[in-house]
Amino acid sequence: MILITLPDLTSPLGQKSSCFQTTNTAVPYSHFCLTLLKIYRLEPWPVHLLKTIGGPLKKLSMNPSSEDVQAHYHSPELFERIVRQLKASGVDLDNVKRSDIAGVDEFHVRGAEVSQELAAAVAIDNKRVLDVGCGIGGPARMLADLYNCQVTGIDLNEEFIRTAIKLSELVGLETRTRFIQADAMQLPFASQEFDVVWTQHVQMNIQEKKAFYSEIHRVLSRNGIFLYYDIFKKGSGTLQYPMPWANSSEISFLAEVEEVALLLETLGFKKIQTKDQTATGIQFFETLLNKIQASGPPKPGLNLLMGTTTLTKLSNLLEGLSSGNLELQSGVFTPTS
Ligand SMILES: C[S@@+](CC[C@H](N)C(=O)[O-])C[C@H]1O[C@@H](n2cnc3c(N)ncnc32)[C@H](O)[C@@H]1O
Repeated sequence: MILITLPDLTSPLGQKSSCFQTTNTAVPYSHFCLTLLKIYRLEPWPVHLLKTIGGPLKKLSMNPSSEDVQAHYHSPELFERIVRQLKASGVDLDNVKRSDIAGVDEFHVRGAEVSQELAAAVAIDNKRVLDVGCGIGGPARMLADLYNCQVTGIDLNEEFIRTAIKLSELVGLETRTRFIQADAMQLPFASQEFDVVWTQHVQMNIQEKKAFYSEIHRVLSRNGIFLYYDIFKKGSGTLQYPMPWANSSEISFLAEVEEVALLLETLGFKKIQTKDQTATGIQFFETLLNKIQASGPPKPGLNLLMGTTTLTKLSNLLEGLSSGNLELQSGVFTPTS
């Protein structure tokens, strides 16, 4: 049984706080929240209200591995730790720029550099963008800042969402970005709500690929753009864990590029372009690992997200890419139906 207490507020309709009960646990939680928000006629959805109504999503997640994925990315007091490092590096906290946090706010191979390349390859100016599995929101802030997009980021991890909101406030991009805690398998949005859906390094944590890409297809407008940048399995070799996205194979659901391409076609996507990004990724890692070994991680850096095993995770990923057991690919697709 789910018991949800609405916050004490008066909506534009004059409704007051109330209680809802249901025994139908099969109702997707996000859809249930959507219905409540529609009752309250609140647009756009305020994050604090979603969270007040919703509470931690893991309670109702339909994906059995969600709790393990959340545990893997658990990073308590992340925003505060980032701020402490900014301060220690001499950054003026009243005038923090996006570049000051670039070492930590893009959690994928080649960080800010690759996000800018991907954005430059598509017509993205002034678009309504959804970043699925947005982490702490670096790519969302870049798209809002450089391309004047209105960007929504969703992520399973509550602390990442709190950090994303606070970092956007810190760099003055809070009016053009919004961040919501949600499961990619049940996106809390209406059909065709976005012009661009963007996802980077998320699907390796997703077992149900069909549900993941179906949701993306559903919320994307019919002439919209779906853009991914991801890590894929190649061949049948064994991988060493921990990896940045998983400490063991239990929450690592790597697919091959061909499988995903076929799935996207089946779901009604047409390929515009794909690009093998493996060689550039390897080059980037070799330089980064040398730098870290010589002078430590950037401050603030991704070690705040990956913890004490950062170097092992990055080395294992580099080994997977260099040995040909993993590949990096970006892709741009559009719906055909
Ligand atoms: C490697 S990080 C990448 C973050 C971000 N895309 C970036 O590139 O900076 C993977 C992210 O996917 C999120 N994630 C994994 N499974 C998810 C799911 N089912 N729904 C929403 N987010 C998910 C994790 O919480 C994590 O923030």
